[in-house]
Amino acid sequence: MNFLVTGGAGFIGSAVCRHLCANPAYRVTNLDKLTYAGNLASLRPIENAHNYRFAHADICDERAVLDILRRDDIDIVMNLAAESHVDRSIDGPGAFIETNIVGTYKVLNATLEYWRGLPDEKKNRFRFHHVSTDEVFGDLPFDGGLFVEETPYAPSSPYSASKAASDHLVRAWHETYGLPVVLSNCSNNYGPYHFPEKLIPLVILNALDEKPLPVYGAGANVRDWLFVEDHARALELVATKGTPGESYNVGGNSERTNLSVVETICDLLDIRRPRSGGKSYRDLISFVTDRPGHDRRYAIDASKINRDLGWAPSENFDSGLARTVDWFLDNKWWWGPIREQHYAGERLGEARKGAA
Ligand code: NAD
Ligand code: TYD
Repeated sequence: MNFLVTGGAGFIGSAVCRHLCANPAYRVTNLDKLTYAGNLASLRPIENAHNYRFAHADICDERAVLDILRRDDIDIVMNLAAESHVDRSIDGPGAFIETNIVGTYKVLNATLEYWRGLPDEKKNRFRFHHVSTDEVFGDLPFDGGLFVEETPYAPSSPYSASKAASDHLVRAWHETYGLPVVLSNCSNNYGPYHFPEKLIPLVILNALDEKPLPVYGAGANVRDWLFVEDHARALELVATKGTPGESYNVGGNSERTNLSVVETICDLLDIRRPRSGGKSYRDLISFVTDRPGHDRRYAIDASKINRDLGWAPSENFDSGLARTVDWFLDNKWWWGPIREQHYAGERLGEARKGAA
């Protein structure tokens, strides 16, 4: 089976490529533009694998996408390429509109043209899997509720609005043109190879650098954390076994406040890499101005993917976070160049309401 993974040099995409390539019956093409978030070092474990190849391309380039689909005789497209950071979407929404909305439209068009030309048997087996986020549902109150597949869309940020738009396009290409699509909406991922602009890797690396650990507002916002390798397994199931036209929510069943996430990272580092003065890393926690439009709580009901596809997370938050902290301690070769050359941890997305 031949997969095209877009955004395969990113955090989740690279986990998907590493996971799929472990199956010798699969061949994987990774199509990536290599933006600031794309890093071929994340593919090092598979870069010489017989069933892996890289294609440097932009999903907005419809012709290039079509050529790759034909050249590599693709059976399943997994569309992960996106601008993914909420704070960057506050500072500069344009790239999010371009890649997440226009790019998805271009990939859909290229895929439709390719799919229409397939022989019937391949056409029936073909899937277009769009990877989306629970942030399209907006937010939940602190005191209850879970996102289900039928929860109405109510995005709050330019990022989540652009992802919501892309989900609608994907559904429309199914309803209108019959393209066999599946969608998944997942909660916050964490794990190895996570770009250090997101909360967990940022806090680990700032702590190791003895820099402040920025907690937005009071740190009371809640996220449902999903270990990235569990997510990669879920995505394989959705892409290969999901029912066309359906969407699947994927979550880690691990709700935590941001403050408790940061404190737990500090406690893990206190044991593994004690500070020279004997103080706890918790002393570096710094409460900073809140994110505008900050969603209070995300929480996923993953019973559909569990029931229909037999998926459940294998890591709980404590085991997954310990693995993640250990990975960052052991893999400075990966994050050192990013912190030195691309992003050193400065505050993003502080723009205030009314100050566009
Ligand atoms: P990421 O930012 O780490 O990686 C995105 C990748 O897409 C990068 O390799 C980048 O180079 C590539 N890319 C960007 N624009 C491109 C373009 N125009 N053409 C080709 N490649 C392009 O993102 P991620 O965290 O791995 O997220 C992957 C997908 O999962 C995204 O669609 C995101 O919306 C979704 N998602 C992420 C999370 C999360 O917690 N990280 C949660 C829910 C959903
Ligand atoms: P983030 O990792 O950016 O993911 P998302 O915005 O997609 O949920 O942020 C996770 C949570 O952590 C979110 O509530 C914002 C908060 N946060 C901080 O408190 N400090 C930070 O420096 C960052 C980057 C995020």
